[in-house]
Amino acid sequence: MSVRTDDFDVIRGELLRIGVRFARWHAARRVPACADDAALINAYRSHIDHVSAEGGYRTVDVVRMTPGPAGPDPSRPGCPVREKFLEEHVHDEDLVRFVVSGSGCFYLHAARRVHAVLCRAGDMLSVPSRTAHWFDAGVRPTYTAIRFFREGDDRAAHFVPNGIAGRFPVLDDLVPMT
Ligand SMILES: [Fe+2]
Repeated sequence: MSVRTDDFDVIRGELLRIGVRFARWHAARRVPACADDAALINAYRSHIDHVSAEGGYRTVDVVRMTPGPAGPDPSRPGCPVREKFLEEHVHDEDLVRFVVSGSGCFYLHAARRVHAVLCRAGDMLSVPSRTAHWFDAGVRPTYTAIRFFREGDDRAAHFVPNGIAGRFPVLDDLVPMT
């Protein structure tokens, strides 16, 4: 059975059942996505400090995914890092992301279901460590996010044998380009 909704409260409630927190933040002041990392972090400083204190996160950084050069296969162009995160994996750290601009879809595999959570600018997602997941920012990614880490140096992805990611639609199928 598949259920699709864009109702924030419904999404938040469903995700809480698997221990995932979903929130929306507003910047203290508007900053363009092309601003440097420090400017983006400063714009959300009060939110970042709150989440860091609550979750024990000691470092944050900014990740940016942009379209790469077109490759020989038009169905798989662009950002090479996209391929890596399309496979089901877990991390020893929590997965905590705040989307500054663009969008990306986090597929969370928990309690025998897959939740595809499309996150857009202003969305904050906090997923417990060891939750199986994969991620897609699309064929032409425009995704900038702030990431939170406890340790800062153990960000490895541990891939799940026989992962199920390939059985689910990628972002561009879920949200067709208009
Ligand atoms: Fe991941």
